[in-house]
Amino acid sequence: MIAASVMDYRELARRRLPGILFDYIDGGAYSEATLRRNVEDFAQILLRQRVMRDVSQVSLGTELFGQACAMPVALSPVGLAGMYAKRGECQAASAARAAGVPFCLSSMSTCGLDEVTRAAGPIWFQLYMIRDRGYMAELLAQAGELGCPVLVFTVDLPVAGVRYRDVRSGASGGRLAQRLRTAWDGATHPDWLWDVHLRGRPHTFGNLVRAIPEAKGISDFWAWVKGNFDPSITWADLEWVRARWKGPIVIKGVLDVEDARQAVASGADGLSVSNHGGRQLDSVPSAISALPAIVEAVGERTTVLMDGGVRSGLDVVKALALGAKGCLIGRAWAWGLAGRGEPGVAHVLEILRAEMEVALALTGCTDVRALSREVLA
Ligand code: FNR
Repeated sequence: MIAASVMDYRELARRRLPGILFDYIDGGAYSEATLRRNVEDFAQILLRQRVMRDVSQVSLGTELFGQACAMPVALSPVGLAGMYAKRGECQAASAARAAGVPFCLSSMSTCGLDEVTRAAGPIWFQLYMIRDRGYMAELLAQAGELGCPVLVFTVDLPVAGVRYRDVRSGASGGRLAQRLRTAWDGATHPDWLWDVHLRGRPHTFGNLVRAIPEAKGISDFWAWVKGNFDPSITWADLEWVRARWKGPIVIKGVLDVEDARQAVASGADGLSVSNHGGRQLDSVPSAISALPAIVEAVGERTTVLMDGGVRSGLDVVKALALGAKGCLIGRAWAWGLAGRGEPGVAHVLEILRAEMEVALALTGCTDVRALSREVLA
């Protein structure tokens, strides 16, 4: 299959991955209403076609937290990516580096910080609030020593939303029948079996090996999350993180104006307007619909990013027109990785870049940093 779009990579990922993994990436919480809205609300936003404006030079370059970026896109933290392709985080980070955009490593990754940094140079790092503060402090220190420029602190998972697909597949804790079905599923996906199951080991959680050396699959992951994520987290805890992290901190998972104000008051250097890709609380507004009010409230004082539902370069242009300084992409790169490994992620980024260039040219805007509501119909 020749992939022309991000959604084509979703189809490639569906063919290549065992169902339990495809559903883990693809799915959302409860009836997936917010997941759908994240995408549909982008489609509702119309661009304004303009002509005769000399668009021979179009510039996509920007800067995020002092780092030059070839385009206003970064790879959002996605857990377990080493289960989608062999040493998946290393492949994705290498593709991001080649494309000149930041890669953010999930704390729940298969490959650890040191392995990915060795493969692809300095990367952003994402953390959740973990009950064991000693362990968290160690991770922060390690990320600092490895030269991670930005810390993404995810705050929308004090408890885990329920994803029906994961319950059915056994991803959130399986019975014997589900485990057998999973084994059969893996055995009947030979490309994945060879690439990941046989050649992609070890399948542990790279950043948590010392905490959970035995953990392997998605169900072990959820068991650990439930036991170790700290639901008592408040803004006061950000001070604890701040004291251990010198660089910029991006608060990921803000959807409400009051929370955005509080994040800035608590010392955040940036935030990502996000509902965790529709994977946490269903029935909350889409990220793109929540963006304008948050930009209005804190956009002058902080760098506002957004994530959720970005499936094309046109979506990135729309988000920037509404005030975001950049977009984090989640499933888009995960599908690219699952479909074709590093070349797949590289192609997804190339698709987004080319689509943004065309969208800018046809809205008559030649510099991504100058995008405003002017380009919206
Ligand atoms: C995620 N996301 C996520 N976020 C985070 O802060 N830490 C993590 O470990 C993960 N893990 C994760 C796994 C998978 C499979 C997905 C799809 C998502 C959320 C992610 O960073 C981002 O917020 C959403 O993916 C954005 O929505 P789109 O781009 O997938 O629509």
